Amino acid sequence: MLNWCVAEQPGREVSLYYGVRNSSEPIKRSHLEALAATYPNFHLRLCFSDPLPGDQLGHDYHHQGRVDVALFRTELPLKPYHFYICGPTPMMESLVLGLEDWGVPESRIHYEAFGPASIKRSANPTAVEPVAAIQSDIVVTFAKSSKQIPWQPGMGSLLDFAEANGVKVESSCRAGSCGCCQTTIKTGEVAYGHAPDFDPEPGSCLLCSCTPKTSVTLEA
Ligand code: FES
Repeated sequence: MLNWCVAEQPGREVSLYYGVRNSSEPIKRSHLEALAATYPNFHLRLCFSDPLPGDQLGHDYHHQGRVDVALFRTELPLKPYHFYICGPTPMMESLVLGLEDWGVPESRIHYEAFGPASIKRSANPTAVEPVAAIQSDIVVTFAKSSKQIPWQPGMGSLLDFAEANGVKVESSCRAGSCGCCQTTIKTGEVAYGHAPDFDPEPGSCLLCSCTPKTSVTLEA
């Protein structure tokens, strides 16, 4: 992604916060440093959580500690950034929740897990409404699970809705990037809040990123 960005959009401002324990771990460090030296809009920030005795702050690394939102708040000016996060689940959970607390809109937070993982997003405060007030005429049918349930608009995505109603669906990134939650639509239509990165096959949808537009029958 970084190589593409600097080649295709060199004017775009990109910061890479790369968290590792010490100088023995960064992968492709010389390539990253060469990019940072070539492209003034690319900012490389190496964060060491456990520096070696010889690692020098300001020379071998830029920040002592883990990558966290407190660091972003200190270093990033208030701009409408997109955040792309990849790493172990505990780190991603803390970053995603921290960014949401900071007020970064969900549509600007993208993440990808190392291996199977799920990230629970913080509940949307607007979802806390009495159920009777938010029920709609739309009905969601989960064919394999033999469940037919009235859609509740405050429930989040169809993946959240399925899980809340005991329907088992595969998921990983919960952000439209991995395709794990792809599910066949037997009838009806769904709508996406924003276009997912993963392109679902025709006749299917990404449950984590869509809501029903009409009553739908899903294969799950
Ligand atoms: S869980 Fe990854 S695309 Fe839906």
